[in-house]
Amino acid sequence: MNNNKLVELYDELDDIESESRNSARTTKKRQSKKQEMDARLFIRAQEHSRAFKFTYQAARFEEAWLADTLAELADQLWITDVLRKAKAGKEASVYLCKPGPAARGSEFVAAKVYRPRMLRNLKKDQVYRDGRTDLDSDGHKVYKEADLHAIAKRSVYGEELRHQSWIAHEFAAMERLFAAGADIPRPYARSGNAIVMDFVGDALGSAPTLNEVQLEHDEARPLFERVMRNVELLLAHGYIHGDLSAYNILYWEGQVKLIDFPQVVAPQDNRNALRIFLRDVTRLCEYFSRQGVDSNPRRQAEEMWTRCGYHLREEIHPRDLDPESSRDRAVWLEQNKNGGSKA
Ligand SMILES: Nc1ncnc2c1ncn2[C@@H]1O[C@H](COP(=O)(O)OP(=O)(O)O)[C@@H](O)[C@H]1O
Ligand SMILES: [Mg+2]
Repeated sequence: MNNNKLVELYDELDDIESESRNSARTTKKRQSKKQEMDARLFIRAQEHSRAFKFTYQAARFEEAWLADTLAELADQLWITDVLRKAKAGKEASVYLCKPGPAARGSEFVAAKVYRPRMLRNLKKDQVYRDGRTDLDSDGHKVYKEADLHAIAKRSVYGEELRHQSWIAHEFAAMERLFAAGADIPRPYARSGNAIVMDFVGDALGSAPTLNEVQLEHDEARPLFERVMRNVELLLAHGYIHGDLSAYNILYWEGQVKLIDFPQVVAPQDNRNALRIFLRDVTRLCEYFSRQGVDSNPRRQAEEMWTRCGYHLREEIHPRDLDPESSRDRAVWLEQNKNGGSKA
């Protein structure tokens, strides 16, 4: 069974599960379909579990998906065991794993495994994709005409490329930002639908996210400044997080770690970059204001933006301008007086 078939199968199982939770009566036909798929998944899980056995007792459908996704990372000695599911996020589940010799620096590693349903639902990625090059599963730019066409057409193959690109962007951003000294978990490897990185937390589970924490009075301001330093460091390296809030920052032993990077946006390429950046900064300021730190998000964002060399004026993309209109032509000329969006 190829990967897409498996994803479809999982999705159908999800649908049937939620259907039977929501209504007392599931039709006989649906029930027998479910039994048939259960059996197929069970066989697949058996095949894989011979190759990679782990301690964590996965739920029925999860087992095959996990074994399938993590077998290669286990082969490459990044992980030797999956100990428990640490968190189920919006798009991915994070598992606490024992590191293999290749990730010797960490006591535990996290395997972030994208859920099959999420892989089908990449519709809300459009705003982040603007101006962004697609990456293949090795993190290289997708350049073949046929592949680009498949992505644009949203064919089954195109969707597979699109989600590989999503995860490749997350891993590439993490590698660059970790090397630049950002407070993020150390990324180790990626394979298919999973990323292995340093685990933030301990054997009992993952660190809380900032929104779950009430900060001490005297630590709130230094942490606010630390977070803002990270936001600016990202920007200086050509990245806007794009989904930054207290939900995507882990808090552990007085330190913060930013997480969850698939939607990163390049400030100079995306037409909505400044708006996205302002949203990130505003959400953070709102959280810290509840912790007693006053700030002015717009000013904060604009200062960082200009310090990193970007123009404040929102620019209109040429494809949104009408060359036949004299007003639009004037906008275009005005916009190009200073050349590009970067100062
Ligand atoms: N490196 C990590 N160490 C420990 N827990 C993590 C790590 N990365 C993510 N998590 C936990 O998993 C959750 C989901 O991960 P995240 O990257 O935010 O994906 P999602 O897109 O599903 O929100 C996070 O909210 C966090 O609690
Ligand atoms: Mg998240």
